[in-house]
Amino acid sequence: MSNFVKIKNKISEFNKRLSIDGDKSLSIRWALLSSQSHKKSKASNLLLSEDVISTLNCLKKLGIKIKISKNFCEIIGLGLNGFKYKDNLILNAGNSGTLGRLLLGLLVHAKKKIQLKGDKSLSKRDFLRVIKPLEKFGAKFNSNYGKLPIKIQGTSYTKPIRYFENKGSAQVKSAVMFAALNTFGETIIKAKKSRDHSELLYKHLKLPIKIIKKKKYDIIKVKGRNKIPALNYKIPCDISSAAFFIVLTALTKRSRLEIKNVNVNPSRMGVFYILKLMGVKISKLNIKDYKGEKIADLIIRGTNNIKPINCPIKFNSSAIDEFLLIFLVAAKAKGISYFKNLSELNQKESPRLKWGSKILNKIGIKNIVSKSSIKIYGNPNLRIDKKIVIKNFLKDHRVFMTSVIAALSFGGKWQIYDKSSVNTSFPSFLRKIDQLGANIG
Ligand code: S3P
Repeated sequence: MSNFVKIKNKISEFNKRLSIDGDKSLSIRWALLSSQSHKKSKASNLLLSEDVISTLNCLKKLGIKIKISKNFCEIIGLGLNGFKYKDNLILNAGNSGTLGRLLLGLLVHAKKKIQLKGDKSLSKRDFLRVIKPLEKFGAKFNSNYGKLPIKIQGTSYTKPIRYFENKGSAQVKSAVMFAALNTFGETIIKAKKSRDHSELLYKHLKLPIKIIKKKKYDIIKVKGRNKIPALNYKIPCDISSAAFFIVLTALTKRSRLEIKNVNVNPSRMGVFYILKLMGVKISKLNIKDYKGEKIADLIIRGTNNIKPINCPIKFNSSAIDEFLLIFLVAAKAKGISYFKNLSELNQKESPRLKWGSKILNKIGIKNIVSKSSIKIYGNPNLRIDKKIVIKNFLKDHRVFMTSVIAALSFGGKWQIYDKSSVNTSFPSFLRKIDQLGANIG
């Protein structure tokens, strides 16, 4: 089977209701935290994408018992300090930064040397950002300037730490919080705002956590060595996956889409607020609380009146995975949009700020990109009729899916490689595109 898609036509207007796969951040956190309980934990609507399967495989190698049927999963944890460490253990985080970084947090007590490796993309990413705080707990690392493969040797005597997380990275914050779980005493993190799923799960599990919210950062205090109860969870839909369909609808005149049960946690809602500021017709209905998270139905309507934006940097962290898509919306705006302080985008599965600019160049949208910002000269009459090939993007799932949305929104004759990359985060992506009536070869 070929590993590319060919798209020759724009999508026609649609009026549909879609369901979206489970949230990736919550699926990975559910599995890792459940492994630290002595009880049986159950999850439904777990995202069974490659990142989550890598998580389950790493846990199995650490002695955790896991049963999966469809998207229902059961984990019988071994409690804090319960992992079984075989000699010369190698754990493979695949493509997942979240798994690699959070898992290291749980390994600061590893009694033996463990190797963590990943795929080509993950091996280019920065792990120094978690090595530094985890060394303060007492773990020892061998690595090639903070790149995978890494060897970690833990200690039974971890010390609680104070740490300033200044990148706005939920992965770093969560790695420190995970290391604190099995450490006597109080770990204190001053963390620039980022997604707060780990904090909400700790609160739901009634673990001793205190959070003081300031304007730009939070102070998080975690006391370790408390038993972790079972974590039964129905994973809500992923706003980052929903975002592909939100943008496709927004850019397709006279279309309407309803997406049910989306996780609308405010720390993930940057895309919603940015698109609203750009004139996209999007609303949330039936907002419910679920174990600390917020869930709602989203309704989106197509428009051809997109406004440019000077994007407030306060939304950067809560929209971090959606900027490639937001750039497509800016391409259709009547005027110049400006996005700044986005150097973290180049730390993702591919250098995404560069890829955002490359996609815009390919569709004929003038843009000026630097290491941390991009200026996009929108064209509300954008229409493409040339041939566009997208390849060699380190199999970044979001580059692939964003390119599909661009093809279906703007037209042109596209050939987009590495279609299996959708399995990283959103295995049903192409089936959902099909359900909307698009014609993809
Ligand atoms: C994630 C945090 C973000 C995000 C990633 C998932 C998480 O990364 O880009 O897709 O689940 O904690 P950073 O924490 O590196 O910004």
